[in-house]
Amino acid sequence: MSKKIIVTGGAGYIGSHTVVELMLAGFEPVIIDDFRNSKPWIIDRIAELAGRYPLGHAIDCTNELEVLSVFRNYPDIFGVIHFAAYKAVGESVQKPTMYYQNNVGSMCAVLNAMKECGIENLVFSSSCTVYGEPETAEVTEATPVQKATSPYGDTKITCEKIIQFVKDSGQPLKATLLRYFNPIGAHPSARLGELPSGIPNNLVPYITQTAAGIRSQLTVYGNDYNTPDGTNVRDYIHVVDLAKAHVKATEWLLQQQGSVCEAFNLGTGKGSSVLEIIHNFEKVNGLKLNYAIGPRRAGDVEQIYAKPAKAEKMLNWKCEYTVAEALKHAWNWEKTL
Ligand code: WQD
Repeated sequence: MSKKIIVTGGAGYIGSHTVVELMLAGFEPVIIDDFRNSKPWIIDRIAELAGRYPLGHAIDCTNELEVLSVFRNYPDIFGVIHFAAYKAVGESVQKPTMYYQNNVGSMCAVLNAMKECGIENLVFSSSCTVYGEPETAEVTEATPVQKATSPYGDTKITCEKIIQFVKDSGQPLKATLLRYFNPIGAHPSARLGELPSGIPNNLVPYITQTAAGIRSQLTVYGNDYNTPDGTNVRDYIHVVDLAKAHVKATEWLLQQQGSVCEAFNLGTGKGSSVLEIIHNFEKVNGLKLNYAIGPRRAGDVEQIYAKPAKAEKMLNWKCEYTVAEALKHAWNWEKTL
């Protein structure tokens, strides 16, 4: 049976770590990535860690004809992992059409090419943002998907709906919707990690850039929330644990008979506040971070963390790294840049 799998956005943060784990598990990824959110030398790092170069094509995933031409290059492709998307919540509020054109446009191009080529297996990179501001902080896959608080979150909800409707249309489709919580950290080797373009939107890269002196001070967006220390709570998951979950989801799909569309929460099951992350980072890396409390950021959810029991049971997957290890790996990576 072929081991070739398309990985759109495979040179990105989560994509590159997933490509390494896929190759170590014996799969043969075919990366589709135009490097708008990455650098070509990331492919060399993947090869260094996996022991061989992956196949790859630098094309825009919203260009359906180009996507189809790549799929047709490899008649033995058995599936697709679709990462390619913009993911900055704040930016999506400023540039909504750019987010819909790219995130939803690439989803439609991939699904159409899959239909054309008879490819049935799809792992979709979704997000806990589909839960919006949940009634309870701990969410399961049965927690209602709510009105998104940002265009980014709405593109993820929209893509999940498109996948479900495509399956219901009768197109043979076996899909997993992987709802990430907060991916952080870097490969333990410090040879792969996050490459935020411009000013980081996310907490941990902003912390590491502050520690590196690239940013002068971290602003904590509000400490007047209804949480133990007043700052927001999130479920921070090591990027390598997340990458391994994609291999497990791919293997699970290959065992399924007939069409399926299944959502999985990918988190540690534990929440950490912003101040806890800062203090944990300082402790595990032996340094002091320059931060100050500032006003709330629009669109922030007060607290959310995963109940990962379904993925642990059905995918036979469990997080192995702690938040402290992720924060150590994040700093080790930042120091190489
Ligand atoms: C975390 C906390 C901020 C920056 C992310 C991704 C989104 C999705 C879900 C995958 C919040 C606070 C941040 C800063 C701060 N992931 N913060 N100062 O908003 O949960 O969303 O995870 O799909 O794509 O964006 O993550 O890291 O931006 O914020 O105080 O300079 O850190 O207020 O409470 P968020 P984040």
